[in-house]
Amino acid sequence: MTPHNEAKAGDYAETVLLPGDPLRAKWIAETFMADARQVNGVRNCLGFTGTYKGRPVSVQATGMGQASASIYIHELINMYGARTLIRVGTCGGLNARVKVGDLVLAQAACTNSGMIRDAFVPYSFAPIADFGLLRAMADKAETRKLRLHVGNMVADDIFYHPNGLDGYGALPAHGVLAVDMESAALYTLAARFGVRALTVCTMSDCLITHEEMSAQHRQTALVDMATLALDVAAET
Ligand code: HPA
Repeated sequence: MTPHNEAKAGDYAETVLLPGDPLRAKWIAETFMADARQVNGVRNCLGFTGTYKGRPVSVQATGMGQASASIYIHELINMYGARTLIRVGTCGGLNARVKVGDLVLAQAACTNSGMIRDAFVPYSFAPIADFGLLRAMADKAETRKLRLHVGNMVADDIFYHPNGLDGYGALPAHGVLAVDMESAALYTLAARFGVRALTVCTMSDCLITHEEMSAQHRQTALVDMATLALDVAAET
């Protein structure tokens, strides 16, 4: 038990999916997992453990942003023995090639987070995905003919940049495909504690065209992302 998590040691599987939204955690557990039971309800930041294709798997919501996500991720690794963490989220598009509903695999994640910048002075650390997970998910997405982009993402501490797209500075011109708010912290903590991590996001709103996902498109895209992540979780 921790101040943020009422689960007991052994309540989580070694592989944990990490959506931001607690209700998405519940939906993943109830829709795709067998024998799912709730293991955490503190602050309604829901966590579940069950099986998928016969393999134990957990899903734990992180809340929004790196400050919140870091608490759950740190505790999952250090108090609950998580060894493979797969974030399943949404992201904003920063490149016109990335269409609403497309999947973005974060090969790496830039950030403006002081949590990460300050930990490596005078260096700037490059948070990267686990290559085995990245390769497995990219291969599987290709087999399923899902629209997928693999590249750099930015995990931003600011959702509402006062000057919109300009708030992302030179990043889009340097190939950064999309923005979320958690992936750099996930990769940095995974590196710190020697575990595997990957972020896959569905692009839900394009910051260039202002196109947004319809409710129906959101549902089918989320099914594709959840089953892709679970299949990677079950096989790697
Ligand atoms: N930032 C901007 N737009 C978004 C994000 C984000 O983190 N996630 C989904 N759309």
